[in-house]
Amino acid sequence: MTPNQNAFHIQTFGCQMNERDSETLAGMLTEMGYVETTDKKAANVAIINTCSVRENADKRFFGTLGQLKKIKEVRPDFVVCICGCMMQQQHIIDTVKSKYPWVDLIFGTHNIHAFPALLQNVRDEKVKQVAVLADGGDIVEGLPAKREFRHKAFVNIMYGCDNFCTYCIVPFTRGRERSRKPDDILKEVLGLVDDGVKEITLLGQNVNSYRGEAMDFADLIRLLNKVEGLERIRFMTSHPKDLSDKLIDAYRTCEKLKPYIHLPVQSGSDRVLERMNRKYTAGEYLALIDKLKAVAPDLSISTDIIVGFPGETEEDFEETLALCHKVRFDSAFTFIYSVRKGTPAEHYGDQVPESVKHERFNRLVEVINHYAAEKNKAYEGRVVSVLVDGPSKTDPDMVSGRTDTFKLVDFPGEGRMPGDIVNVEITQGKTFSLRGIESR
Ligand code: SAH
Ligand code: SF4
Ligand code: F3S
Repeated sequence: MTPNQNAFHIQTFGCQMNERDSETLAGMLTEMGYVETTDKKAANVAIINTCSVRENADKRFFGTLGQLKKIKEVRPDFVVCICGCMMQQQHIIDTVKSKYPWVDLIFGTHNIHAFPALLQNVRDEKVKQVAVLADGGDIVEGLPAKREFRHKAFVNIMYGCDNFCTYCIVPFTRGRERSRKPDDILKEVLGLVDDGVKEITLLGQNVNSYRGEAMDFADLIRLLNKVEGLERIRFMTSHPKDLSDKLIDAYRTCEKLKPYIHLPVQSGSDRVLERMNRKYTAGEYLALIDKLKAVAPDLSISTDIIVGFPGETEEDFEETLALCHKVRFDSAFTFIYSVRKGTPAEHYGDQVPESVKHERFNRLVEVINHYAAEKNKAYEGRVVSVLVDGPSKTDPDMVSGRTDTFKLVDFPGEGRMPGDIVNVEITQGKTFSLRGIESR
């Protein structure tokens, strides 16, 4: 950092959409001449990009905001900006305005592109700004991004969600579904590959309802599969109700679409699934898994599961466990149901007691971890292709990377650089990762 240069700090909560939005914010700030710092105290501009999906995300946000207040007290020119999903909710904005009046700038998920101008106004005129748009509007193309990795990138293909699962706040914070044009996506991917990107993850709340002009999601994968120099395509997240045979077949016909899928099931009880408005049954979910395994035998599967949805009985919960025993997920994100203001399930009268939710949660995690360990153990002795990310987060003497099947692998990898693709022989399969040695 040169003396007197403006520095920014971004803290990001939530999912990959928010991570990708933060990359855009960082890209815009970099173009404005700011540099990024990991030390909040060294920044002139601090941004918190918030998530609303569960109550503890809300709580962590207010905790973080409290820390920024201390900096603001000694340095009034420290600009505090808050954005993201929480800011799309009026009751949150009201709370911020009354309890945190020293916040300088509030904006939402729909007007990220306006951030440079909003920030400049705050800094020039020292006025407080609240700018949140009610719904999406047109997609703004061509915004810059500052990415963490040179060799892999997130690519938004659609925004918003129209599914309205009864527990979920996302359709309210991210607005209606909007898809980018295939040409715009292709142009972005070609640029990324030119820049050294080998792996892209296509992002959307429900990527398989993508509709760009005449193309559906499977068509888009086929188009991107032809991009020379691109090695791996992944996507997040797909909804079981929209997982078409055509998309399943892409695992067979598109060699760059790697054998991994994140397919949230949420529950194994048809009664609960219906009350969640998921629009599929446990049997239909299992049939999809069978079809997927038939085209991609090496497929690794992860999921999201909620325990303690209103009205969930012990029997319903046991159906969830039974489904886990049948699918044998490679991994799962498990969540305790959290009431979200403004969602239909908020008004369901039969909320499950906290102690029951916790007890079910622990039982579920035990089953999930059992299969995760078993699946990873089965990798022992296999040689797999790993895309190196960089030094391991758990052991500085190792490097880590991901297999085609999205498994985290640590191995000695001396001299290996981020972006290298190497063959690794797996020596140990643990619950959450693999260990190996390079196979030269
Ligand atoms: N669009 C994605 C994910 C959205 S949020 C999808 O549909 O798959 C990620 C996960 O958070 C969801 O899959 C769900 O399991 C969980 N989640 C959402 N709302 C929740 C709530 N109110 N309580 C607990 N978990 C929730
Ligand atoms: Fe939420 Fe359901 Fe949309 Fe996923 S599909 S973002 S869980 S409403
Ligand atoms: Fe959270 Fe918004 Fe993502 S609520 S999970 S950051 S879409």
